Amino acid sequence: MTASVSTTRTSRGKLASTLDESQLAEITELFAQRRKGFSLEAPFYTDPAIFKVEMEAIFGTHWLFAASIAEVPEPGDYVTLDYGPHSLIVLRTDDGGVNVLHNVCRHRGARVLTAASGSTGNVVCGYHSWTYDSEGNLIHASSPGEIDFDKSCFALKRAHGRVVGGLIFVSIAEEPPTDFDEVSAIFGPYIAPHDLARTKVAYQQDIIEEGNWKLVMENNRECYHCDGHPELACSLFPTWGLTDELVPPHLEEVWERNTAAKAALEERCARYGLPFEVIEELDTRIAGIRISRESLDGEGESFSPDGRRLSKKLLGDLRDFRLGRCSMHLQPNSWFHFQSDHVITFGAYPINEHQTLVRTTWLVADDAVEGVDYDLEKLTHTWKQTNIQDKAFVELCQQGAGSPAYQQGPYMKSEYQVEAFINWYTQRVLEHLA
Ligand code: FES
Ligand SMILES: [Fe+2]
Repeated sequence: MTASVSTTRTSRGKLASTLDESQLAEITELFAQRRKGFSLEAPFYTDPAIFKVEMEAIFGTHWLFAASIAEVPEPGDYVTLDYGPHSLIVLRTDDGGVNVLHNVCRHRGARVLTAASGSTGNVVCGYHSWTYDSEGNLIHASSPGEIDFDKSCFALKRAHGRVVGGLIFVSIAEEPPTDFDEVSAIFGPYIAPHDLARTKVAYQQDIIEEGNWKLVMENNRECYHCDGHPELACSLFPTWGLTDELVPPHLEEVWERNTAAKAALEERCARYGLPFEVIEELDTRIAGIRISRESLDGEGESFSPDGRRLSKKLLGDLRDFRLGRCSMHLQPNSWFHFQSDHVITFGAYPINEHQTLVRTTWLVADDAVEGVDYDLEKLTHTWKQTNIQDKAFVELCQQGAGSPAYQQGPYMKSEYQVEAFINWYTQRVLEHLA
């Protein structure tokens, strides 16, 4: 099969990656003949043309996790979000919503806002000072001797933005998928008690992983490799993703501890009215999702060596620290852990076919004081270490995919969620190509 497919401009369909007929047919065939239960063929991880298809069929079509409202707490606060060829400005509005603008000046195309985050009234391009309001309308473009022109034709291009439970999602599609309404209704009640509107950013970490974005997401869907996470395994039961019959002998004791902790957590959730059931629709929805509330080892409170709280301040109106982790995986590009004392958000943003930015953000109660209520190093230690370890795993796989010796390998039973993610991915792209 093809190792690389170049792209040219044609008028076919709406595929902005503009493949000609034979290239399109070749890529479609590659997706259609995907061998179920096996890892993807190498070009899925290495071919720039497939990456272009993904930028339209996945990242140009779906809702993407962009940030949490704790990152843009006040009107006028913004973050910029870069992925593939795109750059977006996500701007908090007076009414608590967001405006999403393409970060491309309508004069000569300069990147308008260059900082990763900040606060602004109007949006001013640094090149010739064309000035846009928060809706993207061009309101000022002076130049000596210039006759007036119709500024209304040169607004910044708009994209879609929405806030659900304090999480900000963006879509550059003309008509974003409507099933996100249903997905929001699924995850909203799980995360609402953590009240992100009353959190603040304690720390944010950007890592560039030398790996395709799908390897990042695949790695996140299994704990088969959790022996490689000694810090995480102190609190996250490494039996995650297993069923009774799949538990290996060396994890039987952990499995029993997990079973008891699970029962206690469910009793506590019932008492507080917190949903905990597993909802898993990874390849049966446009926005594939898995959400649940699951127990943590040790004290069962947080991601620490003994499972004890990492911040003394409870989030929202929660009344108990011992609430495990509410964990959500949302395709295509995010996963989250909501504990009673802090929240961690993860966003994966493809740079190209072999590099991905992984952004991790730790949120604590907005009245928690660093050094008093939490120790930043302790708060971030487990997942900083885990991220470093996961980065290494992803990079090893990317290296392998680039080797002529690479061949598809079988997913194990405990990797069924990886298979579901890949199934979702191929379905979504094939539907788009059709
Ligand atoms: S390119 Fe933005 S003002 Fe000229
Ligand atoms: Fe991992």
